[in-house]
Amino acid sequence: MSDRIKTFIIDDNETSANLIASYLAEIEDIAEPLVYKNLNAAYKKAVDEEPKLIFLDVSTNQASAIEFVRKILMLFPSTKIVATSYTASSSLIVKAFKAGVKEFLIKPLIKNDFSEAVSKLAKQIKNNIKENSKCKVITVFSNKGGIGKTAIATNVAYEIAEMSKEKVALIDLNLQLGDISTFLELAPSFNAAYVINNLDKIDKNDILSAFEKYRDSSLYVLSDPQNLTEAQAVKGSDITRLLNVTKEIFSYIIIDISTNFDEKTIATLDNSDLILLPMILNLPSIRNAQRCFEVFKKLNYHKDKIKIIANRVIENDEVKIEDVELALKQPVYFKIPNNYSTIIGAINKGYAVSEINQSSNISKSFRKLAALLTDNFTY
Ligand SMILES: Nc1ncnc2c1ncn2[C@@H]1O[C@H](COP(=O)(O)OP(=O)(O)O)[C@@H](O)[C@H]1O
Ligand SMILES: [Mg+2]
Repeated sequence: MSDRIKTFIIDDNETSANLIASYLAEIEDIAEPLVYKNLNAAYKKAVDEEPKLIFLDVSTNQASAIEFVRKILMLFPSTKIVATSYTASSSLIVKAFKAGVKEFLIKPLIKNDFSEAVSKLAKQIKNNIKENSKCKVITVFSNKGGIGKTAIATNVAYEIAEMSKEKVALIDLNLQLGDISTFLELAPSFNAAYVINNLDKIDKNDILSAFEKYRDSSLYVLSDPQNLTEAQAVKGSDITRLLNVTKEIFSYIIIDISTNFDEKTIATLDNSDLILLPMILNLPSIRNAQRCFEVFKKLNYHKDKIKIIANRVIENDEVKIEDVELALKQPVYFKIPNNYSTIIGAINKGYAVSEINQSSNISKSFRKLAALLTDNFTY
């Protein structure tokens, strides 16, 4: 990806659009802008492209332009929108700022004022991108249940928080059957569907309080909803919005997710830096993993984005790690030993494994995986 700022100009006056483009050409870090005359066309493109900077003429089609600002910022809260206008009625200016524009520039544009305002925004965008890219999103996914996804997500998130002391989010996007709150014995006040459905009402600074802090760690949990109807309304684009906002707060986001390849799962996987794919060393599990890789290929994911985790590994298993690697044409990234009594003991008590039994092979294994994921994040 180019590290120049993706920019749109939306203006039905060609001369005005060209003038903005010519001023932008002289500002550092701004990519060559895409120019649109029509709001709907620009919106459709923006949904896919996620522009970071938008120049929007609000003097014609005022109501639709303001609505455009609202919709874009709901999807991409960190995008900066600059309103430009031939008219400068105070009611239009107030409406534009209320909707979330960062600057309101009156036409005809004055080059110096324009450049000063835009350079300032460009700097903020660059800093934002840096901040955001510090957050790593890791999703534990398998198209099969009972394979250890929740155990891995929960314990790895706990270990990363303990190790890094940075804020780590553990999000249960199993919107209908989540069990992280059971694994960690939490009685959350809020849940993922509530936060998603109220994203435009919750102040960014209050998002953290919608998460349940896990004991005295730096792990924060967002659980699944109790109420199924709340979950049904959630769309893929809602997940993208949730993650965009959450990324600004946390250093790591660990996601546990359902086994279906539906719109929500794909949005989650698209937004992940890394996918952990747990499997067990047996033939059905290899076949399931093969199916996952077929889908990942269709989704154009880089091979390195997916890390195979062999779970419940027993010495002298009939199916060997090498068999899995041969069948999947991909190395096994990590092995977690089979230790049912320790893991179920921790789940039943509502703790992470290492809080109960620090020296067990399984807690050592989760710690090592967490260390790998934090140090070795080169993809
Ligand atoms: N490494 C392991 N060794 C032994 N048992 C495990 C291991 N990982 C998970 N389990 C057990 O497997 C069961 C399913 O795990 P869970 O995390 O709920 O799977 P999923 O989220 O994929 O449905 C749980 O009872 C859990 O205790
Ligand atoms: Mg689970």
